[in-house]
Amino acid sequence: MKTAVVRIHRHGGPEVLQYEEAELRSPGPGEVLLAQTAIGLNFADTYQREGEAGPHDTAAMPIILGGQGAGVIETVGSGVSLFKPGDRVAYIHPGAYAERRVVPAGTLLHLPPQISDEVAAATLLRGLTAEYLVRRLYKIKPGDVALVHAAAGGMGLLLGQWANALGARVIGTVGADSKVDIAKAHGCRDVIVYSREDFAALTMELTNGVGADVIYDGVGKSAFLKSLDCIRPMGMVISYGTASGNVGAFDLQLLHRKSIIVTRPTLRTWIATRTDYEAAAAAFFDAVISGKVRAEVNRSYALRDIRRAHEELESRATVGPAVIIP
Ligand SMILES: NC(=O)c1ccc[n+]([C@@H]2O[C@H](COP(=O)([O-])OP(=O)(O)OC[C@H]3O[C@@H](n4cnc5c(N)ncnc54)[C@H](OP(=O)(O)O)[C@@H]3O)[C@@H](O)[C@H]2O)c1
Repeated sequence: MKTAVVRIHRHGGPEVLQYEEAELRSPGPGEVLLAQTAIGLNFADTYQREGEAGPHDTAAMPIILGGQGAGVIETVGSGVSLFKPGDRVAYIHPGAYAERRVVPAGTLLHLPPQISDEVAAATLLRGLTAEYLVRRLYKIKPGDVALVHAAAGGMGLLLGQWANALGARVIGTVGADSKVDIAKAHGCRDVIVYSREDFAALTMELTNGVGADVIYDGVGKSAFLKSLDCIRPMGMVISYGTASGNVGAFDLQLLHRKSIIVTRPTLRTWIATRTDYEAAAAAFFDAVISGKVRAEVNRSYALRDIRRAHEELESRATVGPAVIIP
C-alpha cells in the first residue's frame, strides 16, 4: 500500500519539503496502522528540517517530518491490547507528516469526546510540555510571578493561561504590538513588546525590583542572558526552546550572584514512562475540558501546502498553533 507523505531528502529551508508517495508497511508486533485526520505543526519541525534537531535527530534520509497527530486506528499488530480498530487516538511520535502511518501503540492516547482531532493534533505536544513546565519542573503557586516569553506563540498561549489559572501573575513578552491583546486574553496581566522595549528593566519595575519567580523561555538566543537580569534570587530560568537560535556557551558564574537555577528540559524525559505520559495527558485534557486552558487552533493547512506552513511559522507572524489536514 502507498500513502502521501511530506519528507526531506536533504536538510535545508522550506524548499526541501517534498510532498510525495511512499510505501506503507503493515503494523508489526505492538504497532497500529492509523488513518490520520489531523497533524500537528511544531517549531521543532523546522529544526529537524534544517538539521538542527540536536541529539535526538538520528534518522536516516529520507525523513518524514512532524511529531504529533491524531486519527482513527485501521488495523493493529499482534500483542496490542489497549487499542482496537475504530479507536480515535492522538500521539506524539516522529514521522507524522503522512496521510496514513504505522505508530507504536505505546505512543497512543485515547481522546476524550470533548477533545477534537484538530485540537489534539495541534496542541498535544505543547499541552504536555506546558503541563510539566507549570506543574512539575516548576510548581506554580498562587502569588508567583511568571515571565512567559513569546506569550502569543503556540507554547506561550498555553503557558500564560495555565500559569494564570494556578494563581500566578503572568508577565508576557511579544515581538509585535499586534500580539499584545492576544497575550492579554490568554492569561497575561502585563505584556512587554520586547522587540522595542527592555523586558528585563520592565519586569524589574513591575515586580518592585524583585524579579520574576520563574521565567519560561522558548526563545533562546535573543532572550536568555537578559532573562538572568530579571529573575529573583534563587528563581528558576527554564530555557525550554530556541526559536531565535541556540543559547550556546555561557559563563556559569553569571548564576552565582543570585543563586539562579537554570534548566534546559525536554518533554521526552518528562513523559518517558507510560504512567507519566498518561498522567500528563489527563491533566492537560482536564485543563482544557474544565475551561482552565482554551486550546485553540488558529490556522489550518493542507498537507501539500506544508512549505507555506513552515514559512509562516518561521516568519514570526503567526499566533497560536496550526494544524495540517492530510
Ligand atoms: N523543551 C520542550 O519540552 C519543548 C516542547 C515544545 C516546544 N518547545 C520549543 O518551544 C519553542 C516554541 O515552540 P512553538 O512551536 O510553540 O512555537 P511558537 O511559540 O508558536 O513560535 C515561536 C515564537 O518565538 C518567537 N520568536 C522570537 N524570536 C524569533 C525568531 N528569531 N524567529 C522565530 N520566532 C521567534 C516568536 O514570537 P514573538 O514574535 O512574539 O517573539 C514566535 O511566534 C520552540 O523552540 C520549540 O522547539 C520545547
